[in-house]
Amino acid sequence: MNAADHILDVIGDTPLVLSHSVAADVDSDIYLKLEYVNPGSSVKDRPALQIVEDAEESGQLPPGGTIVEATSGNTGMGLAMAAAVKGYSCIFVMPDKMSDEKIKALRAFGARVVVCPTAVEPDDPRSYYSVAERLAEETPGGFLANQYHNPSNPKAHYLDTGPEIWEQTDGELDVLVATMGTGGTISGIAKYLKEKNPEVTVVGVDPIGSIYYDYFKTGEMTEAHSYLVEGFGEDIIPSTMHFDHVDEVVRVSDKECFQYTRRLVREEGVFAGGSAGGAVCGAIKYAEQLDEPANIVVLLPDSGARYLSKIFDDDWMRENGFLDEPWGDATIGDLLDKKDDGGKVYTAESGETVADVIERMKQYGISQLPVVDGDEVVGLINESEVLDHLLGEGAHGDAVDELMTTSFAVVEPGERIGPTGDMFQDGRVLLVLDDDELKGIVTKIDFIDFVTNYL
Ligand SMILES: Cc1ncc(COP(=O)(O)O)c(C=O)c1O
Repeated sequence: MNAADHILDVIGDTPLVLSHSVAADVDSDIYLKLEYVNPGSSVKDRPALQIVEDAEESGQLPPGGTIVEATSGNTGMGLAMAAAVKGYSCIFVMPDKMSDEKIKALRAFGARVVVCPTAVEPDDPRSYYSVAERLAEETPGGFLANQYHNPSNPKAHYLDTGPEIWEQTDGELDVLVATMGTGGTISGIAKYLKEKNPEVTVVGVDPIGSIYYDYFKTGEMTEAHSYLVEGFGEDIIPSTMHFDHVDEVVRVSDKECFQYTRRLVREEGVFAGGSAGGAVCGAIKYAEQLDEPANIVVLLPDSGARYLSKIFDDDWMRENGFLDEPWGDATIGDLLDKKDDGGKVYTAESGETVADVIERMKQYGISQLPVVDGDEVVGLINESEVLDHLLGEGAHGDAVDELMTTSFAVVEPGERIGPTGDMFQDGRVLLVLDDDELKGIVTKIDFIDFVTNYL
């Protein structure tokens, strides 16, 4: 029987695949190391298992003990998987900004998840770091995995990932590219590869907003800024991050990470997460400035399945300005300016009759009117409501207020038009208000007309 004894035996030995389409514009060969093929769907299965095995050996984790970690994702999954097989309990402490999906995934393995407030300093007793430390101390048989300072983290990559890459490339790689979170991955692999061949260049990838790039270039600690790509970049320097093995650091933006992530799956069928897109983007940027073609190995840390409601969701991408739509930064105000009537808006007054409204619709050739009471917009009346009204019990002399609807969405002139496309659901129109002043009305056909000019 050609079967593994248990799930932990199938961690590692992940495939290395040549990239074609995404890397088509560079002379170098870019090889993708697909870490999402691990059973917990990420590179973190490797350090998680190493951490558990080393803690068993040192006696820090007694039989039937409890593994505690401050983690929101992949490391938790790896630890939970090892714990399930080896009969340990798990407690994961995570900040409250984490998605329900991630919490449920860890609970699926039987782990206890403790959620802590995000908006406190790391040394606050309520922070998730502090709570994890306290729980590890208080729980009998408790062991804090501590991936940011546990040498077993880089060790896993020194013992496994590094040798795998060396063998898969027959020692013919020139450059290794990896993202840097705890730094365990890049530090462990780099140490091994450089021992085999000191000429191998190791390139770290850092998201804009993280402190690593500046720290590497200047030695200075700068202030971190928020960014959306998950899993890499830091606001501290963990002891598992060994910059002495890193030769260059390349910076990538959120938008670059997400666009490359989408290209990887659409063009090459490689369904990886946002840090993988960042890593590939970093590799291409590095390759573009090489004089000679090189063999470049890029590590893709996790699976795209964890980001379906973000990177692979058009609405989320659009809301955050990450989709390169041809109409890009055009605003609702631009759209109004382009309308034939310059966005002129006709209204009905609250209290006017249906007959008045029909007259105005005919006069100006329009099919709907916002209803205003003084300066305030109180409703919308359109042809269908007028028709329904007259076909029913309604009369021409009734006030429009009886049949107006609230089937509209309110937008401001400065809003980018991209995200507003979804507001037309259920036959709604957009009323444009600037400081409560009615500036115009945008219908679905106005929108279509405007974007068609860009296509
Ligand atoms: C999705 C993702 N990308 C990148 C990394 C960075 O790996 P490392 O912590 O080994 O530097 C991680 C680590 O958790 C991750 O989860």
